[in-house]
Amino acid sequence: MRHRWIFFYFSALVLHGFNTNLQNRMTKHFWRRLRFWNASLSDCTTVRNIILTKPLKSIAPDDFRKHVNNIQACPWQYNRTEDNALKQEFKKCCNTSHMLLVSQDNTPLGHNLRYEVSQNKAVKVTESIHRMLPESSPFKGKQFKTCAVVGNGGILRNSLCGREIDNTDFVFRLNLAPLNSPEDVGTNCDLVTANPSILVSRFERLIERRKPFVDLVRSFGSAMIVMPAFSYVRNKDISFRVLHAMEDFSLKNKVVFFHPDYLRNLYKHWRKKGLQAKRLSSGMMLVSAAIELCHSVTLYGFWPFSLDLDGNLLTHHYYDDKHPSPGFHAMPEEFYFYTKMHLKGALYLHIGKC
Ligand SMILES: *[C@@H]1O[C@H](CO)[C@@H](O)[C@H](O)[C@H]1NC(C)=O
Repeated sequence: MRHRWIFFYFSALVLHGFNTNLQNRMTKHFWRRLRFWNASLSDCTTVRNIILTKPLKSIAPDDFRKHVNNIQACPWQYNRTEDNALKQEFKKCCNTSHMLLVSQDNTPLGHNLRYEVSQNKAVKVTESIHRMLPESSPFKGKQFKTCAVVGNGGILRNSLCGREIDNTDFVFRLNLAPLNSPEDVGTNCDLVTANPSILVSRFERLIERRKPFVDLVRSFGSAMIVMPAFSYVRNKDISFRVLHAMEDFSLKNKVVFFHPDYLRNLYKHWRKKGLQAKRLSSGMMLVSAAIELCHSVTLYGFWPFSLDLDGNLLTHHYYDDKHPSPGFHAMPEEFYFYTKMHLKGALYLHIGKC
């Protein structure tokens, strides 16, 4: 405790007269290091046992946040056995490399493709739909060495994780989140999801001017755009319009669609593991896919609390200024499962500064 105060006093002196962003970031970085010295291994074992054995419901939200804070200060080691077991589970339930996306070879012409959520409704795969599909899965027989799955949480702001993210072999991103801060979020993108709701709220369903949307997609380079075209009936036409817009404006981005069977299987799988949410978030979909498609996976920007590790109030997303209401603001249940996989050494959940 004493050390903390001496350190605090010292940094206050250093900071006196300065208050640049960089200085702020550096101090925060020191605080993180300090936390490392303070973590004792017995604390780490206790927290590990709690998260790995207790259901989330039995852990109070404040305690959960404290535990996760502590985990950040505990040593992490990759565990090949745990990781392989997890990869096998996903392969068996969901077969990401073949089934993640609708393709001509997993969906024949004339097939009735059942929607993921809209009850008992199906789309008949006509010739014009079939032509929109890639011949086969772009992930067939591939495994990337290192992958980053980048969530959109306010925790990414001032993280300085951009370079680390860009240095991975494959970068997954969510819901066309703007790459507005290269030093924090990086600039590379190989795959990004696009939720039809943003097309409705921000781009007039592409019925009016399409250029603003096309310009947004341009900022993602040649990334593959993944849409849940066959999750709800209302998603289909708008997803097709996105594909046509890319073609009309001669963008190289491939627009591809989540396979509804894949999403259903994935949902069932997580239910079996104890997840109770009504539906998986696209974050959870990509994290699950990455586990199977990549040798090693790091998550950035996933953090369900309104305060950061130092107790500062966070914005809801890294790119906006909205503050969530106190407590949880996004998918604590899914985060609990990410934490478990982190503790088992199957993936690395990065929180805070890089
Ligand atoms: C995944 O799907 C492909 C194509 O249908 C199939 O050949 C392969 O055996 C499947 N793998 C598993 C583990 O089910």
